[in-house]
Amino acid sequence: MTSDNKNIPHNYSPGLEGIIAGISDIAEIDPDHDALSYRGYPAHVLAEHATYLEVAYLLLNGKLPNRAELDSFSNELTQERNLSQQFLAFLKHIPQGANGMTSLSMAISCLAILDLDTQKNDRSSNLSKAKRLIAQSPAVVAALYRIGHGQKLIKPTSHLSHAANFLYMMTGKEPDPEIAKSFQSTMILYAEHGFNASTFTALVTASTLSDMHSAVVSALGTLKGPLHGGANEGAIETLLSIGDIKNVEPWLKETLKRKEKVMGFGHRIYRKQDSRAPLQKQMVERISKRVGDTKLFPLACKLEEAMKREKNLFPNVDYFSSVLYYLIGLPIEVYTPIFAMSRMAGWAAHIIEQHSANVLIRPDCHYSGDKKMKFVPIDER
Ligand SMILES: CC(C)(COP(=O)(O)OP(=O)(O)OC[C@H]1O[C@@H](n2cnc3c(N)ncnc32)[C@H](O)[C@@H]1OP(=O)(O)O)[C@@H](O)C(=O)NCCC(=O)NCCS
Repeated sequence: MTSDNKNIPHNYSPGLEGIIAGISDIAEIDPDHDALSYRGYPAHVLAEHATYLEVAYLLLNGKLPNRAELDSFSNELTQERNLSQQFLAFLKHIPQGANGMTSLSMAISCLAILDLDTQKNDRSSNLSKAKRLIAQSPAVVAALYRIGHGQKLIKPTSHLSHAANFLYMMTGKEPDPEIAKSFQSTMILYAEHGFNASTFTALVTASTLSDMHSAVVSALGTLKGPLHGGANEGAIETLLSIGDIKNVEPWLKETLKRKEKVMGFGHRIYRKQDSRAPLQKQMVERISKRVGDTKLFPLACKLEEAMKREKNLFPNVDYFSSVLYYLIGLPIEVYTPIFAMSRMAGWAAHIIEQHSANVLIRPDCHYSGDKKMKFVPIDER
């Protein structure tokens, strides 16, 4: 980009900040009140009182399910947790040490090849694919991790909830119910967030009338970045590298002097606090006591306090979720994939909404390069 700023149109907004790029019935972020709701229900209330599958149903269908509807939805998804041998054989070819998000993208592309409905974008096919993707993605994340570490695969179990079954597939042990509930709450808080970067990417792909799996693969590439979903891995790595509460102040001073960003802080839309963080913080405090950790939560609170004082910045959704995942023993490399499998319901709901009233998303840009150049043949340059 050259520096000719003279004729930049007045409606240009770097990073599309403040631009309304669509109309949606799915989530509302109210930055004036630091509030987030899914289909009109406060997200933090859903995170405390609903299950992940109730929320997925709500996001996909626009209403909370009654008992019979939830039972039928859960039964369908529980059956879809089983990954085919053909698919698992493919996963076994991914080299050890591959990045978790890159592997997940490849795995979703492979599911697209095996899904008979891949090329169909009508509402009913999209809903079926959404259910399969929501059910399959936790099984894929767990399988990729275990294959990548030379561990035997754990078959899904039908008597555990969507969230608890993921923890079981990761470890082979049935999780403590309180830990499973807190983990489920983080999944609900990750499930949807309007036109965030990965959802918007998915919509650009869907708007070309490409299919749901392709849109999800596009979203995965965007979520991987450290300014988006990658921040949860960055946040815990930061806390571990600080190591001790007494190192927080000198570490932060040096980091800010170098003008580096602190992962897990700040947000494009929220200005005073991320509406999802207070509940996450409460859960982390509770789980710290439960697992007997006395170090990480106070360290995280100290950095929170110092960031508020130095930069007036607050923790976002990725900060305390990363602490929770660490406390419950999840390996860091699956934190961003966990964000992805949680956001699957939100991505799918938006892709369905886009396909139901499609308009190609194709913005314009202001040209700032050279003009009226005279072509010189190659041998005369
Ligand atoms: C989320 C984020 C990309 C929002 O960015 P944005 O609205 O485009 O705001 P900017 O990146 O332009 O930041 C504005 C200012 O705040 C500072 N800032 C923002 N987030 C910061 C952070 N996490 N650490 C340190 N400084 C930060 C920027 O350096 C910039 O300062 P400057 O004006 O002196 O240059 C940004 O806060 C960030 O990079 N956070 C860390 C990554 C993260 O946690 N991402 C997950 C988001 S849910």
